[in-house]
Amino acid sequence: MADLTTSYMGLQLRNPIIVSSSDLTKSISSITRCYEAGAGAVVLKSIFEEQFLEEGGVGREGYTIHPEARDYLQSGALLDYAPQKIYQVIEGAKKETSIPIIASINCQSPKLWPRFARQFQDAGADGLELNIYFLPLDLDSPGSEYEEFHLQIMSEVKRAVSIPVSVKLISQLTSISYLVSKLANAGCDGAVLFNWFLEPDINIENLKTRDIIGKGNFRQSLKWAALLAGRVGCDIASSGGVRTADDVIKLILAGASAVQACSLFYQQGLEALKELLKGLEEWMDSHRYLKIGDFRGELSYKRQELSFKGVGEAGAYFRAQYLKTYSKIE
Ligand SMILES: Cc1cc2nc3c(=O)[nH]c(=O)nc-3n(C[C@H](O)[C@H](O)[C@H](O)COP(=O)(O)O)c2cc1C
Repeated sequence: MADLTTSYMGLQLRNPIIVSSSDLTKSISSITRCYEAGAGAVVLKSIFEEQFLEEGGVGREGYTIHPEARDYLQSGALLDYAPQKIYQVIEGAKKETSIPIIASINCQSPKLWPRFARQFQDAGADGLELNIYFLPLDLDSPGSEYEEFHLQIMSEVKRAVSIPVSVKLISQLTSISYLVSKLANAGCDGAVLFNWFLEPDINIENLKTRDIIGKGNFRQSLKWAALLAGRVGCDIASSGGVRTADDVIKLILAGASAVQACSLFYQQGLEALKELLKGLEEWMDSHRYLKIGDFRGELSYKRQELSFKGVGEAGAYFRAQYLKTYSKIE
């Protein structure tokens, strides 16, 4: 029988499937359910930096408020999921389960986060995921300025803790390769590719804006896992659009060390996690792979570049035009 154990950011996981940051990982009981369904690890629901500001009595000047934090504020629930509560969730989850518990914060500045990062570590978190979100609205700020914030935040946090730290990125960055490489050089242990948010729409009858639930972009995650795995000094975790065991297998072939999912579990319940594991195991058995490391990164750009002339099978990750695909159709 295939061995599904794997390593992500130096953490030992019983399998590569992580329940990603969401309300499915917000309480001890929900984390225990993820554990019982077979999750390799969980990333806790993010705490928003605005919650620290509130708790620490720090003003909010100069902050672009995160849309979800704004919702919390408007509902008066900003402190419902405050740092103190999360310390208890971490301690409880560590008692009830034996999988890595990764804490998550949505950050916009390195001001307060390092202090709380240390406290998460002391409460027993096995790792930290920094969910960094900027809306580049300012007409005078170049992309490099936003990317520099990522490095500053990560470096400050790294200085404060000894547990592994990952950064969860959005896909709309000018140079993903450059940023991930620089983060890794600054000590980042993992890049989570990618975060996903609600998408805007306009109701043309009542002339109001509204949020719609989009879906994570699986192809983007696949492409960037393949392009970066083995070329940067940190692990890659894929996040976005995972629906089937085939998706998990593809992401690992591309080079992901771990695969995060959550919408699937909202739609189909945690039973779907068991199906992912079953499908992964059956595929490994039928392809005679004994362990994850036997095929991880097999179709990454790095591996293909080494084994073939040119980019080999990795060509699909580069192709930005349709010439070849549609050349036979006139
Ligand atoms: C209801 C819900 C809440 C989420 N909350 C967070 C969060 O607090 N922090 C975060 O980093 N990502 C959050 N996410 C994003 C997910 O962790 C994940 O990156 C994204 O949904 C893409 O993966 P998926 O296609 O498997 O859902 C949330 C997603 C959903 C659906």
